[in-house]
Amino acid sequence: MSSAKRILLIIGGGIAAYKCLELIRRLKERGHHVRAIMTKAAHHFVTPLSVGALTNERVFTDLFDLDDEHDIGHIRLARDADLIVVAPATADLIARMAGGHADDLATAVLLATDKTVLVAPAMNPRMWLNPATRRNVTQLRLDGIRFIGPADGEMAERGEAGPGRLVEVPELVTTIEAALAPATAKCGPLAGRHVIVTSGPTHEPIDPVRYLANRSSGKQGHELAAAAAHVGARVTLITGPVSLPEPAGVHVVRVVTASEMLEAVKASLPADMAVFAAAVADWRTAKPNAEKIKKSTSGTPPMLNLIENPDILKTIAQSAKDRPKLVIGFAAETLDVLAHAKKKLKSKGADWIVANDVSPATGIMGGDNNAIHLITGAGIESWPEMSKADVARKIIERAAEQLTAKRTAAE
Ligand code: CTP
Repeated sequence: MSSAKRILLIIGGGIAAYKCLELIRRLKERGHHVRAIMTKAAHHFVTPLSVGALTNERVFTDLFDLDDEHDIGHIRLARDADLIVVAPATADLIARMAGGHADDLATAVLLATDKTVLVAPAMNPRMWLNPATRRNVTQLRLDGIRFIGPADGEMAERGEAGPGRLVEVPELVTTIEAALAPATAKCGPLAGRHVIVTSGPTHEPIDPVRYLANRSSGKQGHELAAAAAHVGARVTLITGPVSLPEPAGVHVVRVVTASEMLEAVKASLPADMAVFAAAVADWRTAKPNAEKIKKSTSGTPPMLNLIENPDILKTIAQSAKDRPKLVIGFAAETLDVLAHAKKKLKSKGADWIVANDVSPATGIMGGDNNAIHLITGAGIESWPEMSKADVARKIIERAAEQLTAKRTAAE
């Protein structure tokens, strides 16, 4: 990374706090300036002495330390940073952030900042999966807070495994530097436009350890978001669970279920254009089981009571208020691709449908290439197979032309 940045690291009170020492070393090695705030609980896991020795700065801990308030203060701490990183973020710290608390230095700084905040959670998997934490994380994502992790794996407690580990330091460094990267082109055919893209699958919980999902990788959606940002758009990418890096210069909102995706799309409106590339699960269980469903002794499998998920594309395309000027849907088909896709154009109320054959033999779902048919009011175009990045660039190019034509027609 060429230019040094100022990173404010907020260290929460979790066992993973020791990884922060390594994180500080790696960030300093790469030329960044790191300042640290430790919560009271963090002192149980690392000492201010070791954090201070590595940052080469005093370590901030107390909101009511008059000296601190006098010579620096929480407002300046928030303002002097290019990026705020919370690692490890405990369930309690996340809850206090979501509630807008400001009763210690860490939360006061987080409430006072207008800078990008990147949160790296670390906690017991049951705490991460608890509905209260899920709610808090969804709220923070809607508020524009970015998350990295947690990773899946063994926990420090014996016999505990699942999502809850702090992501490893190299991944943290990459994500921090991506968040610090200057926004991509502020000029280009989509400059001044807001574009919403949905991407990836959704996961619909059955019980705390099982879910309904599909094979979507999110590659096409993420490429579309990157392509729109590349030509100047302000992009909000709303993605289900995927293991792809966040495209540079894109605001990413991570969700899990179809209902969360719909809420996130609504919260991101208004937009000039929306592209619905996500493979949204059509159904969810009416009421996910609070505990893991056990096998019955009789061998009878459980009955899943499924209900239909909201249709996000249809809801937005047919809404009277805030409908984006250009609404683009996808049609993932395995049979009669064109006939089904033409029907979807009408039934959903989209302006365009990008249809593709997702039969396993095509290798499109999860693969790097795509062969699409673009269905518009004017007819059908069948494009030759190309990379998903090229498909994205071409769709965005066409969409920019269309938006410009609409603007010219309206003038
Ligand atoms: N879509 C959506 N919300 C849903 C289902 C689908 O927004 N609950 C969107 C997809 O993002 C895509 C389009 O609708 O842009 C078509 O999705 P697809 O899975 O092909 O079709 P479905 O509407 O699910 O219909 P079917 O499963 O019967 O093909």
